Amino acid sequence: MLNLESLLLRLSNAPGPPGFENAVRQIVKNELDSYVDSLETDGMGSLIALKNGPPDSPKIMLSAHMDEVGLLVRYITSDGFIKFQNLGGWLDQALIGQRWQIMTSKGIVLGITGIKTPHIMSVEERGKVLKGESLFLDVGAKNKTDAEERLGIRPGDPIAPSSEATILNKSEFILGKAWDDRAGLAVLIAVMESIKDTNLPFHVYAVATVQEEVGLRGAHTSSYAVNPDIGLNLESGVAGDYPGISQYEAQEKLNGGPAIFLHDSSMLPNLKLRDFVTETADKAGISLQFNVLSGYGQDGAEMQKAFEGTPAINLTVPTRYLHSHNSIISLEDVKLAVKLVEKCISTLDLKLIESLKNFD
Ligand code: CO
Repeated sequence: MLNLESLLLRLSNAPGPPGFENAVRQIVKNELDSYVDSLETDGMGSLIALKNGPPDSPKIMLSAHMDEVGLLVRYITSDGFIKFQNLGGWLDQALIGQRWQIMTSKGIVLGITGIKTPHIMSVEERGKVLKGESLFLDVGAKNKTDAEERLGIRPGDPIAPSSEATILNKSEFILGKAWDDRAGLAVLIAVMESIKDTNLPFHVYAVATVQEEVGLRGAHTSSYAVNPDIGLNLESGVAGDYPGISQYEAQEKLNGGPAIFLHDSSMLPNLKLRDFVTETADKAGISLQFNVLSGYGQDGAEMQKAFEGTPAINLTVPTRYLHSHNSIISLEDVKLAVKLVEKCISTLDLKLIESLKNFD
């Protein structure tokens, strides 16, 4: 039996900035191996696992992305500080005063984003937000040569946040750096475990994509590799249940169950799929939430645009403080998301798939 909690912690702790998902891919591969009939990677590194259905049967694609927001070494200054490039959408404020792991050929190097000591700041300076281009990592190097030769740091080396996942004060909440989208990946793995011995009238593809945070790049190629009939993308949702966020901006709450994005700036879901998922949740007694966001962007958008188009939907695990060193999810929501996706898959049949694809 899969231990969901320990899987979540392991997934969040693995470093995997966009394009450098190796450590995450290894975990997903090991976990999925005994649940599926084949495992392949496409030319960009997305992992495509397949649980076979009958020959020529439809293809259901589940996806979740392996990468997290990170940084990349831009250059090393002569006095040994690291200037960096953002990989994915960081707020400049979230970058400051944090620990980071630089993934070098010699192994992980710890660095911190230092901030000027307030004692010497003018009143004006104290009120200002520092711009990303003025920031740097301090790795304790004596100079450039020391950073290069002793620590093995080179331009282009990926950098992941350093922040160990942990249960928050004995609650059902879990703190971690990478719930976007390791929460979705955990759901993907747990669903494949739960259906491993079930004979289904269709193929189920479990796809762990790369480079979502820099523009849904892995979902693009893997959707073409699979050419699905129906797509379910599993993502981290935007919780709006803490001070400073209005209901208008985000409607999901932690412990309210999984959610469906009904609008984000990258896609509109197929409404027949919305209704199917809603009915399935109702019948199973799973609380389901809806979220309409003005912004965002996620892999479901690429799935629905591949080839002639695919009915697709984005299902989420509500998450607080996305794209920071410390995001929060609820284990209860993850469990309910697994149950919901599993129910959706076991309820789907060929007739239903045909009707979802029918626009008459
Ligand atoms: Co994401």
